[in-house]
Amino acid sequence: MSQVHVIEHPLVQHKLSLMRKKEASTNSFRRLLGELSSLMAYEVTRDMPMQDVEIDTPLERMKARVIDGKKLVFVSILRAGSGILDGMLTVVPGARVGHIGLYRDPKTLVAVEYYFKMPDHMDERDVVVVDPMLATGNSAIAAVERLKELKPKSIKFVCLLTCPEGVQAMQKAHPDVPIYTAAIDRQLNEHGYILPGLGDAGDRIFGTK
Ligand code: URA
Repeated sequence: MSQVHVIEHPLVQHKLSLMRKKEASTNSFRRLLGELSSLMAYEVTRDMPMQDVEIDTPLERMKARVIDGKKLVFVSILRAGSGILDGMLTVVPGARVGHIGLYRDPKTLVAVEYYFKMPDHMDERDVVVVDPMLATGNSAIAAVERLKELKPKSIKFVCLLTCPEGVQAMQKAHPDVPIYTAAIDRQLNEHGYILPGLGDAGDRIFGTK
C-alpha cells in the first residue's frame, strides 16, 4: 500500500486554514497556495538523489553535494495543478515540467484527457504529479496511468487536500505511488467535492465561477 504523508507543519496548516475561508480573495488564495506548495516541495524532495561535485570555496577545493534538478519533472494536471507547480518551481527552478490536460465529466466524474506534453527521456526522471484536490481520484489515477507508459524512475503525487475516498481509490489503483497532502478531510459529497474542503480549487486560483 502506498504511503500517505500528511504534512503537519504549522506553517502548512496555518496557510491551508486561511485558504479554506470563503472570504479569501483570489489574490491571497493564489499567494498562499504558492507559499504552501514551496513548503510541500521541501517534504516531497526530501529523498531526492544527490551527487558530489568539485567546487572551490575562497579557501580550498572541496566535494560538495548538489541535487540534479533536471532529473526531476513536475507534472501539473491542468488547470488547477499550475497553482502548486509555481510554488514548487520557486524552490526547484531547474526542474522540468510536464502538463496533462484532464477535465472531469460533470455527470460521470470520469477524467477525459485533452492534452499531454512531457519532457523527453522520461525513463531517466523522477516525477512529481501535482493537483490541489485528490477527490474522486479519477484524474490522478488517469494521469499516473498515462505517465507509467513512459516508465519514469519514480512517481509521487502531491495535493493540497484529499479525503478517505480519494486516498483509497489512488492506493487501490497505484499502490506504488506515495501521496503527499496537507490534510485528509472528512468526505466526498455527491458532486465529487471534498467536505469541508475549500470549494473548487481552479475557480479559486483563477477567480472564475
Ligand atoms: N476539485 C475541487 O476543486 N474541489 C473539490 O472539492 C473536489 C475536486
